[in-house]
Amino acid sequence: MPAGSIQFEGMAGEHDARILAIESSCDETAAAVVVGGRRILSNVVLSQIPVHRIYGGVVPELASREHLRGIVPVVRQALEQAGVTLEQIDAVAVTYGPGLVGALLVGLTYAKTLSLATGKPLVPVNHLEGHIHAVLLEERMHEREDPPFPAVVLVVSGGHTHLYRVERRSEEKDGRSIDRYSYTTLGHTRDDAAGEAYDKVAKLLGLGYPGGPVIDRLATLGNERGVPFGPIRMKGNPLDFSYSGLKTAVLRYVQTHNMEERIAARRKALAELPGRPTMEDWQRLCDQETLDLVASFQYAVVHSLVERTLAAAESAGAESIFISGGVAANRRLRRGMEEAAAERGWKVYAPALPLCTDNAAMIAAAAWPHFTAGEFAGAELPAYAQLPL
Ligand code: KG4
Ligand code: ZN
Repeated sequence: MPAGSIQFEGMAGEHDARILAIESSCDETAAAVVVGGRRILSNVVLSQIPVHRIYGGVVPELASREHLRGIVPVVRQALEQAGVTLEQIDAVAVTYGPGLVGALLVGLTYAKTLSLATGKPLVPVNHLEGHIHAVLLEERMHEREDPPFPAVVLVVSGGHTHLYRVERRSEEKDGRSIDRYSYTTLGHTRDDAAGEAYDKVAKLLGLGYPGGPVIDRLATLGNERGVPFGPIRMKGNPLDFSYSGLKTAVLRYVQTHNMEERIAARRKALAELPGRPTMEDWQRLCDQETLDLVASFQYAVVHSLVERTLAAAESAGAESIFISGGVAANRRLRRGMEEAAAERGWKVYAPALPLCTDNAAMIAAAAWPHFTAGEFAGAELPAYAQLPL
């Protein structure tokens, strides 16, 4: 990444610098304005869920098309809500990977254009770094102390299930102190991401899309020990994850317990509902066996996430644990992680829902240390489907 030197002359003071961030890596078109990496002036998210719902997952071509439709109004709204003009922005930050390349290119091209047109620097951000910095942003927004480092971070979403060790050190540059973060991968999924498993199991059971929020709610009505899915084990790195076997186990359970007809009936009933299903609709459409299956699936996922995160924290000498990403919104996971961590003396830091799922405020927060270090990119910056931290 090309580095340029930063000129604070003529800009807002460093701590008042405003970053306009753009995020379009998957199915949310998002823009935000954040001051000093800590104060959110706006955080606009246009979700494409209604577009992808009927397909039971994100359709990449449709995602790109929806980003094209949404990007200009979303950025305009973010500026309006923040009460600033483009000229009052100090930098444009943008997600350049990992993600769907067609989707990323929409946000990236628009961000480059804004940067060129206004002469403001372009700060490239890795989406996963965004999820990590969402945790710090949540603490700073509430004027709480930063969590202690090194931290072990579980990034768990529809596209990612990653464990990192994160370190922070301060460095002097041009008489200013800047924070440097470094990331070491401790484990990752070998196949499906945890959120993807939620979405696929929900689709399989005729529960609609996205699966996470529905399963989160339905699981409270089921017995999580009802279906004894064994622990998820595999050879090699004990901190890696795997969810395709669990998904197959759910499918096998459905087949051996003759659940197909009930699932087809539920799918049909859901499609015929006039609006979004309520909790009462769900209860009416799901028999106890389905609720137990859903709760047991969730228990197996949560158990694997908690077990590996704590093992990682132990081996990495972590001072704190962070969880972030769409699945980190899951109530059972948050409770399970907090309880297990507290028993061993760790505090768990997790953003509230709006910063857990994809958003651009987290991209602005992750951009902040790069901005202060003068790490900018030019018009040649590509989008990457895969982009390790
Ligand atoms: O972070 P995110 O918005 O997008 C990606 O980067 O993937 O995460 C979306 C994923 C979806 O798979 C969705 O089912 C899952 O997060 N999710 C949840 C919950 N809310 C969203 N999974 C479990 N429990 C939830 N409450
Ligand atoms: Zn994400």
